[in-house]
Amino acid sequence: MNWQQLSGTEKSKYFIDEYLRIREFSTALCSRLEIEDYTVQPIADVSPPKWHLGHTTWFFEEIILVKCLSEYTRFHQQYRFLFNSYYKSAGQHWKQSQRGELSRPTVEEVIRYRSYVDNFMVNYLSNAEIGDDVLSLLEIGLHHEQQHQELLLMDIKFILGSNPTSPVFSEKPLGFASPVNQIWRSFNEGIYSVGASDGGFSYDNEKPRHKNYIYSFAISENTVTNGDYLEFIDRGGYGHAEFWLSLGWEWVNDNHIGHPLYWRKIDNEWYEFTLHGLNLLDLNAPVTHVSYFEADAYAKWKGVRLPDEQEMEVYLASSIDDSVEENEHEKKHGDESGVYHPIKGDAQTGQVWCWSKSHYSGYPGYKPYQGMLTEYNGKFMCNQFVLRGGCIATPPSHYRHSYRNFYAPHQRWMFSGIRLAKDI
Ligand code: AVJ
Ligand code: FE
Repeated sequence: MNWQQLSGTEKSKYFIDEYLRIREFSTALCSRLEIEDYTVQPIADVSPPKWHLGHTTWFFEEIILVKCLSEYTRFHQQYRFLFNSYYKSAGQHWKQSQRGELSRPTVEEVIRYRSYVDNFMVNYLSNAEIGDDVLSLLEIGLHHEQQHQELLLMDIKFILGSNPTSPVFSEKPLGFASPVNQIWRSFNEGIYSVGASDGGFSYDNEKPRHKNYIYSFAISENTVTNGDYLEFIDRGGYGHAEFWLSLGWEWVNDNHIGHPLYWRKIDNEWYEFTLHGLNLLDLNAPVTHVSYFEADAYAKWKGVRLPDEQEMEVYLASSIDDSVEENEHEKKHGDESGVYHPIKGDAQTGQVWCWSKSHYSGYPGYKPYQGMLTEYNGKFMCNQFVLRGGCIATPPSHYRHSYRNFYAPHQRWMFSGIRLAKDI
């Protein structure tokens, strides 16, 4: 949305509508939870849903209300500390690995905090002649909240999946995936532009758009399926050091890894825990919840490689199928038709985040955000890999092809998958 061209009143209306729509969706996502689900933190990477609801609220308080409204008083002095994630320039923050130790504030208090901030925000947005610099911060705040909506679904899945009773998030039965054929799409050697262009929202790490020389390559139109991956397991893939990076081999052995995160073998049959409950493993569905180490080892076993992030962006931008429909996921959540698991193996976007072989770092000419937000992306540019293409938990109005998600190579609680590439 190119809101810069709108008049003052149109801008105000656009942002109030977007603000309310996006804020409401976070609590809607959590409405399927029981109150006990909101507070637990099974591992350091996974935050309690209650914390996400508070943190996204703190973000607006910190970047907009405290800075722009002289009469604003914080809802609670300690929330500045409890709900700051990692911004050293915003003062002290509660330790990430201890977020699950907080029985207070209660869920109800966090919801009241949300209403308090929402009232100030909507008031501010409707009264003031707000400059585009503040509206740009607001836009970052909205995308930040959407980023956390994806994290909420990942974290909820891990919380429910840690429970031996396998609680069901969505009662809707998952359909079966259709079989996919492996099709390679080729691209010619040449100079390609990559990165976010002007117009439309993007984070600092997607800019500037810049030229890349790309050698001829082919990329798979389908992602690796559970059936494909099962073959790797059955042929002893996890037991052969030659397929694994050195760090990956250590990770496999130290943690006794032998299958994707949510696979379970029960009575000699493979099952997968999903947000729709514990299901028989669907061999045609995309493999998901694999680490970079596993994606890389699978590609090596196949005799091919992972794409780099530039190849992936060129491929995504040339999409013939745009399977991410504007607001579809967000609209569908409210009723029982929401699908919270990837089942389309031949989709180019929007099913599983695909690991690229690119180390996450700044593009040529990268300019980080100023002020507190300089810590948003830039400081994580070490020891992580870029993932591309979005997943079923990504709100469609948050997604763009230039989007660079990033995780450490051992992490796999996100909806991560594998798209293969090769030199031609
Ligand atoms: C890009 C998903 C790794 O979880 O820290 C959330 C996203 N940035 N709030 C993270 C993010 C600021 C980020 N990841
Ligand atoms: Fe955040």
